[in-house]
Amino acid sequence: MIIELLKKLTDNSQRTLPQISHELGLSVIKTLSLIASINQYEADLIIESQGNFILSRNINWLDGELIAKLCVAKSLPHKFVLLNQIESTNSYALKNISNYTMPTIIISELQTNGRGRFGRNWSSKIGYDLTLSLVYQLPVDFNLPILPIIVAVAMNRLFKNYRIANKIKWPNDIYVNAEKVCGILVENICRYKQNNVVIGIGVDNIGAWERNQLLVDVVSEVDKLLSEFALFGFSFLRREWLDNCLHYQLPVALLRNDIIVANGVHCDLGESGELIINSPIGRLNFSNSELSLKINA
Ligand code: BTN
Repeated sequence: MIIELLKKLTDNSQRTLPQISHELGLSVIKTLSLIASINQYEADLIIESQGNFILSRNINWLDGELIAKLCVAKSLPHKFVLLNQIESTNSYALKNISNYTMPTIIISELQTNGRGRFGRNWSSKIGYDLTLSLVYQLPVDFNLPILPIIVAVAMNRLFKNYRIANKIKWPNDIYVNAEKVCGILVENICRYKQNNVVIGIGVDNIGAWERNQLLVDVVSEVDKLLSEFALFGFSFLRREWLDNCLHYQLPVALLRNDIIVANGVHCDLGESGELIINSPIGRLNFSNSELSLKINA
């Protein structure tokens, strides 16, 4: 109901509370509580002005027909599932994974329980940011730990194409100055000799870009990088990742559950996306599963 109500209000016409209740087929009390829950998610998204309820900012909705056209224009073979509201696009993709035999985009206007790395929560501005999952079937021998690194290079290129000065923080966060603007959560199910991967991407729309175009540009960039990896292997991507890394050759600390487990100077990226540092006790490799990184500069 959240997105239904917001979509109604997007036409900018003046509506009183009883009018909205009538249009939604809800009681006035239920409508008020819906408005309250929307404003709890994003403060003052719906405001009251002289008895009418209106949106406090513009919303650029995703549009299935436009997405389909833009995918054709970029020769993307993907199917897509466009949802109004879902707990998490990654959870939805994992639950329905056997339905996706083609590369598939799952995109939702709103995630009620968006998931980040380390079990953290991921929240986004409704009708503004992007929350999507890409489903691919990869070969069973695909070196999965590299996938987040490949996707990070793709998202780094996307922001650069959009004229943003961004950098990658290990393993796959995109930063602009001190702000994280994109997070990636790769999950997979390997069964019946198939490697089904879900690439969850949350993009902060820092340039107020048109969202349908932004979505298709994201998909296109990830798809391109997967093809480049298949053709040329990891070495070029590794170089690009290092050249665009926020902390390459800088002192860093590695943390597990907020406790420092190692300090050193970041000196390389391993063949499976490991962070390599020169520490006081020598060269150390860290895989990305449970560790986070702090720059000590
Ligand atoms: C992180 O940096 O912690 C990863 C964030 C990943 C967020 C995206 S939003 C779409 C997809 N669905 C989720 O529940 N999470 C990912």
